[in-house]
Amino acid sequence: MIQEDRSSAKFLPMPTPSTELHSYGLTEYIRDLEALHDRCAAMPVKVREVSTLTHRLAGSRGWLQPQFRQPNKDSYARYLLHRDRLNRFVVLSLVWLPGQATPIHDHSCWGVMGMVAGELTVVNYDRLDDGSRPGYAELQEADTEVARPGVVSHVLPPYRELHWIGNRGSEVAISLHIYGRDLDEVNVYDLVTHRVSRMRIKYYNLDWGNPDFVI
Ligand SMILES: [Fe+2]
Repeated sequence: MIQEDRSSAKFLPMPTPSTELHSYGLTEYIRDLEALHDRCAAMPVKVREVSTLTHRLAGSRGWLQPQFRQPNKDSYARYLLHRDRLNRFVVLSLVWLPGQATPIHDHSCWGVMGMVAGELTVVNYDRLDDGSRPGYAELQEADTEVARPGVVSHVLPPYRELHWIGNRGSEVAISLHIYGRDLDEVNVYDLVTHRVSRMRIKYYNLDWGNPDFVI
C-alpha cells in the first residue's frame, strides 16, 4: 500500500511558469510521458515526474488547439487529447465556464492537473469510514486549493483521491489533466446522504453535441 506524506502533497514545488512559445508541445509531452512510463513504475516517482512535465506543457503557449479550448454551456467540457497506445495514461483538456463544477468524486488511479488558463478551486476530502458498507461513505473536508497557471496538483490513491473541482471565478478556466487509466467511470459521493453512486462519464466533442453523461 502506498503511504503518502500529506504535508507535502498539496502542491509540488515548481519553478516559475514558463512562457515558452512552441518549444514544448503535446507531441513532446506525450513522447516524454511514454519514456517515463517505459522506465518508471514507482507511483510516487511517476506522479512527481509527470507533474514536472505537466507544469512545462501547461506553461507553454500555442500547443492547445482552439477546438479543445471551447466551453460547453451545459457542463464543463472534457476533451480527450491522447490515449496511450498501451493504455497507461490519457491526456485531457477540460474547459470550465464560471459556475461549472464536478460532484465530489474519486478516480481509482493517479492523476495530475495543470492550469492552462484561469483558476479552479479544488476541495479535497478525507474518507472517515472503512469502506466496508457498500454504497456508503462518510467524508470530511480536508483542505482547499486554488489552482492557477504555474500550479500543478495531483491525486494519488488511496489517501488523496476524493475531491470537488469548480470554477468559482468570472473567467473561463482551462485545465490539463493526465490520468493513469481511461477515466470513463467514477464514484460520486453525496456529503448529506452519504450515498456513493457509480457514474459513467464521456469525453466531449464539438461534433457530437451534448453527450448523455458529462460530469
Ligand atoms: Fe477529479
